[in-house]
Amino acid sequence: MCVSSATIDLSTQANIDEIKTTHVHLNWNVDFENQNLHGNVVLDLQTLVDNVDKVVLDTSYLDIKAVHFGDQVLKHQVAERYASLGSALTIQVPTVEKAGTNFQIKIDYATTENCTAVQFLKPEQTLGGKHPYLFSQSEPIHGRAMIPCQDSPSVKVTYSASVRSHLPVVMSALQTGVDEDADKEVGFKTYHFSQKTSIPSYLIAIAVGNLVGQEIGPRSTVWCEPEMIEQAAWEFSDTESFVATGEDLLTPYEWGRYDLLVLPPSFPYGGMENPCLTFVTPTLLAGDKSAVNVIAHEISHSWMGNLVTTNAWKHYWLNEGWTVFIERKILGRLYGEATRQFEALSGLKSLQESVDLFGKDSLKTVLNPDLRNGADPDDFFSKVPYEKGFNFLYHIEKVVGGPSIFEPYMKAYVQRFASTSISTEDWKAFLFEYMEKTHGAEMVKKLNTIDFDTWINKPGMPPVDPEFDTSLADACYDLAKRWDEARHSDDLSFSAKDIENFSAGQKIVFLEKLTDSEPLPHHLVQKMDELYNFTSNHNADLRLRWQQVCLMTSYEPIYPEVVKFITEQGRMKFVRPLYRLLHQAKNGAQLAVDTYLEHKSFYHPIAAQLIEKDIGLVKSL
Ligand code: BES
Ligand code: ZN
Repeated sequence: MCVSSATIDLSTQANIDEIKTTHVHLNWNVDFENQNLHGNVVLDLQTLVDNVDKVVLDTSYLDIKAVHFGDQVLKHQVAERYASLGSALTIQVPTVEKAGTNFQIKIDYATTENCTAVQFLKPEQTLGGKHPYLFSQSEPIHGRAMIPCQDSPSVKVTYSASVRSHLPVVMSALQTGVDEDADKEVGFKTYHFSQKTSIPSYLIAIAVGNLVGQEIGPRSTVWCEPEMIEQAAWEFSDTESFVATGEDLLTPYEWGRYDLLVLPPSFPYGGMENPCLTFVTPTLLAGDKSAVNVIAHEISHSWMGNLVTTNAWKHYWLNEGWTVFIERKILGRLYGEATRQFEALSGLKSLQESVDLFGKDSLKTVLNPDLRNGADPDDFFSKVPYEKGFNFLYHIEKVVGGPSIFEPYMKAYVQRFASTSISTEDWKAFLFEYMEKTHGAEMVKKLNTIDFDTWINKPGMPPVDPEFDTSLADACYDLAKRWDEARHSDDLSFSAKDIENFSAGQKIVFLEKLTDSEPLPHHLVQKMDELYNFTSNHNADLRLRWQQVCLMTSYEPIYPEVVKFITEQGRMKFVRPLYRLLHQAKNGAQLAVDTYLEHKSFYHPIAAQLIEKDIGLVKSL
């Protein structure tokens, strides 16, 4: 049963309306042998109401050993798991009479083998093959599988950590020192960290492995295993220009450092905006900087998400929609408006795909989805908050009169809400307040022409056609049309020259366009590959699109390539659609299941859970 009466965030069981955490201190031992983190967490708490006699925290598959209050041991109880929300930990505290009282508790605990937040890798799962590795991924609600805490984005804390390990440790914070171990056990050190800007629990992150760093800018170091450090430093050498452009668009960069960590291939996302240290997938190492929009995206979270944070997963678009909007502003400033429009167009296509996948009436296509009854926010992950959110902001920008009006508002928005957590209603109230104060009643009239209710609460595609400029996409569309028509004619005029001048992005848009029409006959697929060499292309986004085109027509020569791609990396953006399509393709269902079962331990636990739903091993919502 859900024990909390908290209303803002339906994804926590903590009593966040009675008490808040102000600081978290972690004392961890990294134990590769037992594949866990163990030690304790010290929580600084403050009561919000009178007469508080319990602290309820979120946990998930944690082994809670003892709770201390000074030298007193407190009674505690771990409830049964409730839906997707984990087990509430209820701690009896001596009644705190006055609201605003501060006190501290210490919880001794360890993570367990069911932990969904931390993936432990064996040496053979790393590039170097000699040392184990671990990394965490807490967004949206896996923080509770690593730390007993108020695991809600509405609660913001500073944190510090002391982590004992025999391999280098990095965290989403600034490193404040390293101690040789007092007991002189060979090779163990204690790494100290401090995050002084308050953040939600989902941004507390750690990675441990054979890590080396190389400087790539005045405030940036890229970290990874030594085997790929050169390539990573090259690929991400434009990082500083993105951060500087973000500062220009918004406010001074808050976090001191902007470092990057390139993870092993099972990392389930493209990037994760852990403060001070963005985590990225090694599939960004395309060799041509074609995937750096992910870096621009994660940098944009330094303001949208990390400074101004959604207060519940229902309002997740405030993190992701805003971030995509800023990401594209940065790309537009650095590479021109045509590039921004091209990205937006391609984003719209991916939104259409999500809407088609879920169905246009599906609640999963609503900007503010309903997450009642312990719904799993991971199940709602899609392009909807990203691209519907982006389109919403793009539309508002147009209606109010363009960047000269909207860009100053973006700055004011960040200044107004920095270090707080907000809802869509808070966002909307400030939009109206700012526009009225700065531009008067006429501007409010303009805003009122927008159908906010449909944008926010109705399913399906956005209510307005954005009419993005297609200048960079037209050549892709034309070529796709020629191939589409070739099925009825005997067009032999195709040649390698067709795509000679295409950017990686344009090749992808060409392939995306092909997936819109009827599956191509096999002889055309074969011919296309002979001319354009898509199968041997190493750009991961292109591989995804090409393999999709092939799978949609059950082109069996591609199956071994698909198996290779979905077992050498575990980024969900790539593996999930490919598993789904392989499973649906002729003679593909068994191959999909066998491939998954054979490689199950390679995947991150979150990815594994979702793939199982995708290929029907587990029932989905
Ligand atoms: N914050 C997300 C990743 C995330 C989302 C983790 C939901 C857990 C739950 C990150 O900023 C992101 O959006 N990554 C994208 C990058 C892309 C949109 C440029 C990704 O992983 O593909
Ligand atoms: Zn994001």
